[in-house]
Amino acid sequence: EGQVFKYYTDGEWKKSASGKSVAIINPTTRTTQYKVQACTQEEVNKVIDSSKIAQKQWAKTPLWKRAELLHKAAAILKEHKAPIAECLVKEIAKPAKDSVTEVVRSGDLISYCAEEGVRILGEGKFLVSDSFPGNERTKYCLTSKIPLGVVLAIPPFNYPVNLAVSKIGPALIAGNSLVLKPPTQGAVACLHMVQCFHLAGFPKGLISCVTGKGSEIGDFLTMHPGVNCISFTGGDTGIAISKKAGMVPLQMELGGKDACIVLEDADLDLVAANIIKGGFSYSGQRCTAVKVVLVMESVADLLVEKVNAKVAKLKVGPPEEDCDITPVVSESSANFIEGLAKDAKTKGATFCQEYKRDGNLIWPLLIDNVRPDMRIAWEEPFGPIVPVIRINSIEEGIHHCNASNFGLQGCVFTKDINKAILISDAMETGTVQINSAPARGPDHFPFQGLKDSGIGSQGITNSINMMTKIKSTVINLP
Ligand code: G3P
Repeated sequence: EGQVFKYYTDGEWKKSASGKSVAIINPTTRTTQYKVQACTQEEVNKVIDSSKIAQKQWAKTPLWKRAELLHKAAAILKEHKAPIAECLVKEIAKPAKDSVTEVVRSGDLISYCAEEGVRILGEGKFLVSDSFPGNERTKYCLTSKIPLGVVLAIPPFNYPVNLAVSKIGPALIAGNSLVLKPPTQGAVACLHMVQCFHLAGFPKGLISCVTGKGSEIGDFLTMHPGVNCISFTGGDTGIAISKKAGMVPLQMELGGKDACIVLEDADLDLVAANIIKGGFSYSGQRCTAVKVVLVMESVADLLVEKVNAKVAKLKVGPPEEDCDITPVVSESSANFIEGLAKDAKTKGATFCQEYKRDGNLIWPLLIDNVRPDMRIAWEEPFGPIVPVIRINSIEEGIHHCNASNFGLQGCVFTKDINKAILISDAMETGTVQINSAPARGPDHFPFQGLKDSGIGSQGITNSINMMTKIKSTVINLP
């Protein structure tokens, strides 16, 4: 009661001079679970100043030593998986087991960054001049990868720990310092995770974590002249950030409307299992969730029947009991989801289950016979409702997928690998999964969105490269 978690800067936990705090509402109980500091712009300035100083020294720290510290942080994080997972359960209502998995996956990700980093950054290039017309062999060019400086990381609520370390790991191994602005829901899990880096013994100022109101410090951080790179995962805010940010590299992963195209020859049991996993895990609150099923009319009835049978088995309830469907993150989110469902119903779609809601908890719902004039055909619910659009040709499915303003991932189910490849080529998305639901991991795979789904490519290797610059030294021979 009354405890306000401190923010982290210069190797210390501090209270904000604002005297104000931000409340974190438990989505299940809908009461205040934790409070964090509402940092001021002045405090942000100080954080960035010390981050800048720490980075200069860190860039000179041998790569193997940087890797060693990251391995240490990974091990400490895994040791503390239980209390961090508990924060996830309370702050974002993630099912208990998935919360533990998120922390363990994050530890593995940090270690992988360390291993990959020593290899990627341990090599440079050597070029000679006489390959370009008009030149003699008189110039030797040596290249290496150097850090960008201060990296600002802004992860979303749905993977506060994992999507924070997917930015922290690459940034630190590459010699950058890092300022973390956690999402409000998930902030305390992030603070605990940062404590693991503190315990590992990273130099002071190298990693910082500032909490506060987006309206007070959000734009201030993203437009700060001291920030040299922004890595953001989230929603529309990313589009606003990309318009306001200065001349710094941006890595953005925003929304998605991942389509699941089902052909007539598909293994329908496999499809049904993947719609459940892809559409309903973490109650659909994943950018890579299956957000529209495009199924050939001839197999639609059978598929819908199979999915319904599995929906009936989903356990609905609190995250502590490890239920499949748990309360969505906020009341406004639940209202939005409900709005999409009601719009579809009014326009003639079929609810395969009875619509049920209790507070932020929405029962899983498959919506059949969705048509393009319904909002759910295009908007992402970020909730446990999945629309089904019946199609009469593959072209119709591809057309719907490509008409979306999003282009994150998509999937296609068929036994005909040639067709699958052609469909994959035709889908305007960053990734297409053949015979499985969309997903970001394994975390070293490239991960990118087209159109409104993002800028740049993530995945461990790509993120390390993105957070560096090429530096050349040219030796001119007489
Ligand atoms: O919503 C965040 C996005 O990165 C999804 O990750 O692991 O659920 O596919 P994942």
